[in-house]
Amino acid sequence: MLFLAVFSVIICLQDTVLAGNPKKLISYSLADNRPLKKALGYDEDVYFNFTELSTKYGFLSEEHSVTTEDGYILGVFRIPSTCNTTNGYPVILMHGLLDSSDAWIVAGPKVGLGYILSSNCYDVWAANGRGTAYSRNHVKLDPNKDAEYWNYSFDENGKYDLPAIVDYVINATDKPKVYYVGHSQGTTDFYVMGALRPEYNKKIHLSVSLAPIAYMKHMKSLLLLIIAQQTDLLKDTLDEIGFAEIFGKHQLIHSIVEKVCQIAPEPICGTALSITTGYKHESISSKTLSVAFGHLLAGISSKTLAHFGQLIVSQKFQRYDEGKEGNKVRYGGVKPPEYNLTLVTSPLLLVCGKNDWVSSLEDVNELSARLPNMVEEYVVPDPSWSHNNHLWGVNAPKYVFSKILAYFKEYDLR
Ligand SMILES: *[C@@H]1O[C@H](CO)[C@@H](O)[C@H](O)[C@H]1NC(C)=O
Ligand SMILES: *[C@@H]1O[C@H](CO)[C@@H](O)[C@H](O)[C@H]1NC(C)=O
Ligand SMILES: *[C@@H]1O[C@H](CO)[C@@H](O)[C@H](O)[C@H]1NC(C)=O
Ligand SMILES: *[C@@H]1O[C@H](CO)[C@@H](O)[C@H](O)[C@H]1NC(C)=O
Ligand SMILES: *[C@@H]1O[C@H](CO)[C@@H](O)[C@H](O)[C@H]1NC(C)=O
Repeated sequence: MLFLAVFSVIICLQDTVLAGNPKKLISYSLADNRPLKKALGYDEDVYFNFTELSTKYGFLSEEHSVTTEDGYILGVFRIPSTCNTTNGYPVILMHGLLDSSDAWIVAGPKVGLGYILSSNCYDVWAANGRGTAYSRNHVKLDPNKDAEYWNYSFDENGKYDLPAIVDYVINATDKPKVYYVGHSQGTTDFYVMGALRPEYNKKIHLSVSLAPIAYMKHMKSLLLLIIAQQTDLLKDTLDEIGFAEIFGKHQLIHSIVEKVCQIAPEPICGTALSITTGYKHESISSKTLSVAFGHLLAGISSKTLAHFGQLIVSQKFQRYDEGKEGNKVRYGGVKPPEYNLTLVTSPLLLVCGKNDWVSSLEDVNELSARLPNMVEEYVVPDPSWSHNNHLWGVNAPKYVFSKILAYFKEYDLR
């Protein structure tokens, strides 16, 4: 996916020339032109939002706002249990990089984990990290004007967003604990919370990591590896020209990707997934691919991209490197500290794929060796299983969701 970064720089540069106003945030918003999309024959699921999608497929949903202690206002969608009763604990779902809460439902009622959990009597809370389309709000900062709004990476997602969401769900449901399921960056956020806010571990009944990301020493994607070497530079360039927010849903690149993936889901968007994550063609239905890509690129900060680049280059799971001087101010030393995984004491089920180029088995092994409360490191038996198959794969219910449901059933009784 990050190959799009290069593309976006070109677009940004063009926009800058047009705007002629460097160092200030460049802000524009393309209208969500539904009549046009309809006329062009888009599948409506592509432009339907979380509420519209869940309603269409027969599920109730509620929209909640959660405010973090540093003032970010997050959109969280609840799909209550479809049963009269609720099993076990509420489930928080946290999306990965470039994605949003929609990730859990774009595959429709048969493959969307959000729906499957609700149908299995769980109370589902699909969250959105700061800066993504549903969470582009703050009590005082303006994401269109204030560069400070975009000064965050997954460090802040883990340190502030997740604790606020966990507390909110616990309060709203009157349950003492929650289940947590994260995909990709949603797992990184979780380890950050567990390490920086260890008191939250006891609020987690069981945490599931789909495509875990902490160490990135063995990342297999050559393309991402090449881009990673340049992410600090890329961030500086983007910030300089006013694009601290990248891949936003209201930005041009989103519309292009959405359109292209309508026309040629497998040949173009499937290939984009292949060269970045190892995706095997046809393992996700082409309808799901086209809908999912219409919901992807929900917005991230340039700093998040740079932080992942730093993990790849430093080969460590550590906090954001602000530079020598910045590190002294922020951390009291010249180097950024590593996240202490010994402190992440929540019970953890790691789910990984043999052909995931981003979350490699070697790196997951190192992670699981350091986590003190491992439940299981489950490797999906299909040898072609990759990064996004966990979310959208036609076989995700068979290989992944049945596993999650079985563990939940066991943990419901504890
Ligand atoms: C979703 O779409 C509906 C209908 O257009 C709209 O009323 C609602 O505000 C939207 N929700 C969000 C969170 O954007
Ligand atoms: C749920 O409860 C209502 C009233 O208490 C009852 O009429 C209905 O049959 C129940 N539904 C299920 C699926 O148990
Ligand atoms: C806790 O939930 C109750 C209602 O469920 C609500 O009135 C109250 O404001 C909530 N408190 C916090 C801190 O969110
Ligand atoms: C961003 O936030 C970090 C941590 O709060 C701080 O150390 C750093 O100086 C900030 N950077 C900018 C450019 O404001
Ligand atoms: C990590 O946390 C453990 C448990 O509190 C502690 O014993 C260890 O010294 C910490 N490691 C570092 C590098 O701070």
